[in-house]
Amino acid sequence: METLLVTGAGGQIGSELVPALRARFGVERVIASDIRIPTSAGTVTEGPFEHLDCTHPEQLREVIRRHDVRTVYHLAAMLSAVAEERPQTAWHLNMDGLYNMLEVAREYRCAMFFPSSIGAFGPTTPRDRTPQDTAQRPTTMYGVTKVAGELLCDYYAHRFAVDVRGLRLPGLISHVAPPGGGTTDYAVEIFYQAIRYRHYTCFLRADTAIEMMYMPDALDGMLRLMEADPARLRHRNSFNISAMNFTPERLAAEIRKHIPDFVIDYDVDPTRQAIADSWPRSIDDNAARSEWYWAPRYDISAMTQDMLQKLGARLKRAR
Ligand SMILES: NC(=O)c1ccc[n+]([C@@H]2O[C@H](COP(=O)([O-])OP(=O)(O)OC[C@H]3O[C@@H](n4cnc5c(N)ncnc54)[C@H](O)[C@@H]3O)[C@@H](O)[C@H]2O)c1
Repeated sequence: METLLVTGAGGQIGSELVPALRARFGVERVIASDIRIPTSAGTVTEGPFEHLDCTHPEQLREVIRRHDVRTVYHLAAMLSAVAEERPQTAWHLNMDGLYNMLEVAREYRCAMFFPSSIGAFGPTTPRDRTPQDTAQRPTTMYGVTKVAGELLCDYYAHRFAVDVRGLRLPGLISHVAPPGGGTTDYAVEIFYQAIRYRHYTCFLRADTAIEMMYMPDALDGMLRLMEADPARLRHRNSFNISAMNFTPERLAAEIRKHIPDFVIDYDVDPTRQAIADSWPRSIDDNAARSEWYWAPRYDISAMTQDMLQKLGARLKRAR
């Protein structure tokens, strides 16, 4: 059985990817790692954990060698809104961290997953049914690092035969760990506030349509892609994937079906609004569907029902 490493494992995705990988490959086979040492017992600490800073290649090399890691899910990165506040640090983490990881993957013949983003598109990209292969001229530091990351991953795949594969993830909705400072965080915050206070003030305009996905589908996509037959992959870094797209007012209406007195109002943050306005409204994911049989299960109504039920139960227990 192979050993896997997850970097940035304490974040929104890692908190759920690590348990999903451990359920599949065995607890001892999945090494969680992060620059932050987990402060409380949680899913990430229920198994091997390494304190690891991806901007230090020697730390990566040492952990990969010691555990004989075969596959890496490289999640450590700075997200869109925080990257815009600290662009130099974002470049250092998102690019140098990725380069270090690719170099170690080349040396030790590891397979690798790279999470790109819809942030890799920009204002000159067609915003409706955004094609797989299209203009990518993002205007944010986050987007710049994601496009450059896609190119660097493809370079390592072609030049050094590193088996690196990626997804352009949309905004992710989940109830285990809070989001880490992205433009789509509103679609998670809204559920916490709806359950607790029946009221939410949204930082995006009511009519801002963006691609979104429920975490179980995103995890399924990552695992499926990494297990796909390489002979079928015409693309690598990175695949468009789509599950649902909606506006804040549409999501509020869906929540109101379960919490009729829920109220949403708006206090628009110009920085995050500008980022959202440069992203696709909907995505064409035919390449993922045909090359590795991508098939999401959750639409907006199934996701909303599950979020309210699972998060509601958790917040009740925490009281
Ligand atoms: N969450 C989303 O909606 C979304 C959407 C598209 C793409 N992505 C991508 O998926 C990846 C993971 O996203 P997330 O939402 O889990 O992010 P997050 O911000 O929740 O977590 C990132 C983790 O990386 C860790 N980290 C920071 N600096 C580090 C370093 N130097 N070394 C090691 N770890 C470090 C942080 O402590 C944190 O736990 C990122 O590459 C992100 O760009 C996320």
